[in-house]
Amino acid sequence: MKGIDIVYNFDKDNDRKNSTSYKWTFEIEKDEIKKGLYPMTVADMEFDVSDSIKKSILKRVERGVFGYEALSENYYNAVKNRLKLKHNLDIENSDIIENTNAIVSLSIALQAFSDIGDEVIIHSPGYMNFFTTTQLLDRKILESPLTVIDDKYEIDFEQMESIVTPKTKILIFCNPQNPTGNVWSLEDVTKICEFAKRHNILIISDELHHDFVFNGVKHIMTENISRKIGSKCITLISPGKSFNVSGCKTSCAIITDEKIRNKFVETKEKLRFPSAHIFAESIILGAYSEEGEKWQNAVKEYIFENKKIFINFVKEKLPKIKIRKTDATYLLWVDFSELKLSDEELEKLLKEKCLIKVSDGKAFGSFYSQCRRFNIAIQREKLFEILDRIYNVFEKENLN
Ligand SMILES: Cc1ncc(COP(=O)(O)O)c(C=O)c1O
Repeated sequence: MKGIDIVYNFDKDNDRKNSTSYKWTFEIEKDEIKKGLYPMTVADMEFDVSDSIKKSILKRVERGVFGYEALSENYYNAVKNRLKLKHNLDIENSDIIENTNAIVSLSIALQAFSDIGDEVIIHSPGYMNFFTTTQLLDRKILESPLTVIDDKYEIDFEQMESIVTPKTKILIFCNPQNPTGNVWSLEDVTKICEFAKRHNILIISDELHHDFVFNGVKHIMTENISRKIGSKCITLISPGKSFNVSGCKTSCAIITDEKIRNKFVETKEKLRFPSAHIFAESIILGAYSEEGEKWQNAVKEYIFENKKIFINFVKEKLPKIKIRKTDATYLLWVDFSELKLSDEELEKLLKEKCLIKVSDGKAFGSFYSQCRRFNIAIQREKLFEILDRIYNVFEKENLN
């Protein structure tokens, strides 16, 4: 490894079909893979992680002792410094609560700050686990569909005002947004905080994709605005998505309000969530390092190119397929409604004819059975092969 001269090979096929990858084994049958079905579902990348993460984990492995773990100040300093550097956010180490998955933090927050039957606002299309987690806890979902204006998804603040009631306790805000890849503007984030303050609603701001923003767009951390406006906010971040370590189960909640933090921690303890995973600190130190940063910049460049290729291909060759403005994530939200197929016909077209498995829009809200989420963090060669496949099927079926 030569430090600055590291060359990343994102074209390398990692043969995940012969691994224990959830996407490649649990979500898809072996027979389907044999037929050539390619999964573009679960939000992880087909690429190797940064060498700095591997080295950091190996160093911990070499210690050879795997008893219960406590995080050192190094962990907290790394998270704090990262947020200061990237987003000019000032926090204390004590504001950081490490947890396993981000969705576990979401579940803890929902249980701590709402009761059964209380209402939770979720924008749609929205990440499926926001809906599932809220539903499983018997909270009522108030869906707030994004509207499309000038080919871009926008928050419908008027609609939000019209659905809110005294039972509305929480707003799940996602920035950058999964699945649309929208990055909310300063004005949007300000309006969200004002709305939350006006109605005494807690914002759970999921910012897992904050590292993965393109096109020179600036990510605004809700916490930075919320503290000016005086709204209440819990921020969720994780190295999972943007360093491709989601299987390592470490994320954190940032909570600067002492009362909210204490209640969150108390609920976490009541629910008996464990102390940090043995590799949590190694992963953060490996990711938030100079070498980790270089890897991330390189992977972002590769994925940005993938996005451009996909979007331009669709624009030029498959104009009935719509992809709205997207500035972040390695996900693409694709609208097939202009094909005027039934939901069943669309599913058959994609899965059986184009041989791609993508995330069904139905999981992202009430109105999206004609949309699909594509994960394009895949080898370039595979991307071209898939686009060709789609094109050939569409041509044969007279759909372009
Ligand atoms: C916006 C967002 N939040 C949360 C998650 C899930 O994170 P975790 O695996 O840490 O629960 C994802 C995964 O794709 C995501 O995109």
